[in-house]
Amino acid sequence: MPARSVLLCLAADLAPGSARRVEHSDGPAIAVYNVDGTFYATDDNCTHGLSSLAEGMLDGDMIECAAHFGGFDVKTGKAVMAPCSMDLRTYKVELRDGAVFAVLPD
Ligand code: FES
Repeated sequence: MPARSVLLCLAADLAPGSARRVEHSDGPAIAVYNVDGTFYATDDNCTHGLSSLAEGMLDGDMIECAAHFGGFDVKTGKAVMAPCSMDLRTYKVELRDGAVFAVLPD
């Protein structure tokens, strides 16, 4: 059975250095990031206080949460700046015909 996936955005619609929150019916909201032309996806809710990470500041491959300025590596989901200490779930990203998809876990 093929893996389930969620359409996140068109690649052309998310500029390098930007992030976007995507709601979907199959699980928690996902944040998609464009890091120098490569797309990454994580859960959007910060593990510290559930703030939307897509509303934070993407600095290279780190997303800084707008609420208390904790940070995560968007490539690995690792919490890299206090007060965040619990890692984020990451999603495999696929590009198909100019669109960016997150592959959901089974
Ligand atoms: S809610 Fe993100 S650092 Fe507190």
